[in-house]
Amino acid sequence: MAMLLILIFLLPLPFFLFLLSKHGNLPPSPPALPLIGHLHMQLFDNSSPHIFLWKLSQKYGSLLYLRFGCKPTIVVSSAEMAKEVMKTRDLDFCGRPDNRASRRLSYNGLDLAFAPYDGYWREMRKLCVVNLFGRVQQFRPIREDEVGRLMEKICQLSADSKPVNISEATTCLSSTIICRVGFGKRYAEEGAERSRFHGLLSESQALLSIFASLTISLGWVGWIDSQGFTIDGGDFPFDLTADHIKAILMNVFLAGTETSAAAITWAMSFLMKHPNCLKTSQDEIATNSSIVTASRNTWKVQHRWYEIPAKSLVFVNAWAIGRDPGAWENPQEFRPERFIDSSIDYKGLHFELIPFGAGRRICPGMRMGVATVELALANLLYKFDWEMPAGMTEEDIDFDALPGVTAHKKTHLILVARKIGD
Ligand code: HEM
Repeated sequence: MAMLLILIFLLPLPFFLFLLSKHGNLPPSPPALPLIGHLHMQLFDNSSPHIFLWKLSQKYGSLLYLRFGCKPTIVVSSAEMAKEVMKTRDLDFCGRPDNRASRRLSYNGLDLAFAPYDGYWREMRKLCVVNLFGRVQQFRPIREDEVGRLMEKICQLSADSKPVNISEATTCLSSTIICRVGFGKRYAEEGAERSRFHGLLSESQALLSIFASLTISLGWVGWIDSQGFTIDGGDFPFDLTADHIKAILMNVFLAGTETSAAAITWAMSFLMKHPNCLKTSQDEIATNSSIVTASRNTWKVQHRWYEIPAKSLVFVNAWAIGRDPGAWENPQEFRPERFIDSSIDYKGLHFELIPFGAGRRICPGMRMGVATVELALANLLYKFDWEMPAGMTEEDIDFDALPGVTAHKKTHLILVARKIGD
């Protein structure tokens, strides 16, 4: 009897799920459960979020609808759809989700990254581009000094036959550069202030990765008391307060430190895995001595024949787009030479390659990030030959990423440096 009752309740379930997945003119979507929507799917999948979403896009297409609880979410996984969202309909999609956690982290939306798209954001972005992000050349001596110090440290490790933790070294490099750019201050390598700073950085990164569901109360940049740049306010229409400055500096730290460090670590990991590419890059740099010196919130939009619910979160999966066979020949192959004589670059106009985003919200620190990554990588490759630590081979390098706003390599990349010419 009990069995019969269970069957009576369970039999209509697939039909019920089918109905739930078919309401409106939504983009394709896996069957959802009542109330929780698609939340359970990620619970049963161990992969990183970008891979989990990529797998779904393989099955349901490059525009996918998911519902996490009551939060409608759109996932974009092809260059064509990214262009639609970040160019054709950029104005509709350039908002930011609003929640308590992001408001607390951003001093009530006084920053750039969490601020909604409005007059305040436009003025603030202009101000920051003129006074900070645009001053890439002015900060060149800082970059060169820090990269030089890192090279000395690696030389010493190499002389002592000790391995180099590339993941840690690059995080230290980029956070020191950003600290000097943002505060005009260099924290001692092992000092208490530095560990506090690093602790806050990791904590904020962790919070950011789950910020959508958290209520937090941190006043974490309250201890900062000096900036390394002066502000040309001009006819800025708001009174600039300490909170405005702290909110912007918080962005510069979180957005500027981890991204550059992750980019260098991933580049070194891929080059180690492909020794021919490593050798070609080293030869290329050696002949070019000049380098080496030291979600959005949307309105109701009819996307083609799909309806995108108002206030949907939109994830543009840049990782999946980099593997879109519609945009790339043999996308799974690591072949950097595909960019030689190619018109495709990363500056936001080619939607097959968007590491800095695109459209109105494109990364304002792009030139600063590229300058750091290029200088550090060029020096690492020009000054040293790299080997795997004893007992390991290139096969042991894995490409698993940690979940988070910036996809960091899960296990640290540890290599042995041999100074070229020794
Ligand atoms: C290799 C290094 C970097 C990468 C890959 C990177 C990537 C990105 C991406 C993908 C976005 C989101 C764009 C969007 O929403 O469409 C972003 C936003 C942002 N980035 Fe970067 N970034 C890097 C370096 C930096 C640096 C060095 C700074 C500051 C000095 C910075 C500051 C920001 C800020 C403030 C935003 C928010 C912009 C807004 O919402 O208006 N980034 N970045």
